[in-house]
Amino acid sequence: MKLFRDLATDIRRKAQWRYRSTSGRSVIKAILADGTAAMCFYRLMQWSRRWRLSPLAMLFGRLNSICCQCTIGRGAEFGPGFVLLHSNGVVINGSVRGGENIRLEHQVTIGAEEHESPQLGNDIYIGAGAKILGAVVIGDGARIGANAVVVDDVPPYSTVVGVPARVVRVRDCPSRDPDKTVSAG
Ligand SMILES: CC(C)(COP(=O)(O)OP(=O)(O)OC[C@H]1O[C@@H](n2cnc3c(N)ncnc32)[C@H](O)[C@@H]1OP(=O)(O)O)[C@@H](O)C(=O)NCCC(=O)NCCS
Repeated sequence: MKLFRDLATDIRRKAQWRYRSTSGRSVIKAILADGTAAMCFYRLMQWSRRWRLSPLAMLFGRLNSICCQCTIGRGAEFGPGFVLLHSNGVVINGSVRGGENIRLEHQVTIGAEEHESPQLGNDIYIGAGAKILGAVVIGDGARIGANAVVVDDVPPYSTVVGVPARVVRVRDCPSRDPDKTVSAG
C-alpha cells in the first residue's frame, strides 16, 4: 500500500539523515524523533485525499496543525523521502509540488505568491526559517540556507543563502542513490 511504502521510505531517509544509518535501532530512533508525527499526519492526509475522503483529510490536516504546529495544505504533493526534522512552524501551501527526498528543518515556509506556488525537484535540503515564495522552480540537489528568502529559481545542485537568496555554491551532480546523499544539516 502506497501510504505505508511512502511512510517507510520517509522514516528510513530520516534515520539516514539524522543518524547516518538505517539500522533497526536508527529507524526506531527516527520514529520517536521530533517531527515524525507530522510526517505521519501528512501521509495520512495525502492518502485520505487520494481516496476522496475529504473530511478525514481535513481532520489529519487539523491534527497536524494543532498537535505539531505544522500546516500543510491538503493538496500539497511530495514524493517518497519527505522528511521533517522538526515540524514546528512549517507552513506549506496546498498547491506545492515536490519530488523525492525533500528534507525540511523547522520554521520553513513554502508558499504561494499571487496564487502561484513553488515547484521542487528531488534531493533538496531546506534550512531552518527559509521561505520559498511564488512561482519558483527549485532544481534537483539544491540546498537552501537557513533564513534564506527564495524568490527566484534555484539552479540544480546549487546552494542559495540570504535575503533575497543568491547562489553561493554550485556542486557537481552526485550519485542519485539517496541513501548515499550526505546530510546538509
Ligand atoms: C547553506 C547550508 C545548507 C550549507 O550549504 P553548503 O553548500 O555546504 O554551503 P557552505 O557551507 O559551503 O557555504 C557557502 C557560503 O554561504 C555562507 N552561508 C552558509 N549558510 C548561510 C546562511 N544560512 N546564511 C547566510 N550565509 C550562509 C557561508 O558562510 C559560505 O560563505 P563564504 O563562501 O563567504 O565562506 C548551511 O549553511 C545551512 O544554512 N544549513 C541550515 C542548517 C539548519 O537550519 N539547521 C537547523 C538545525 S536545528
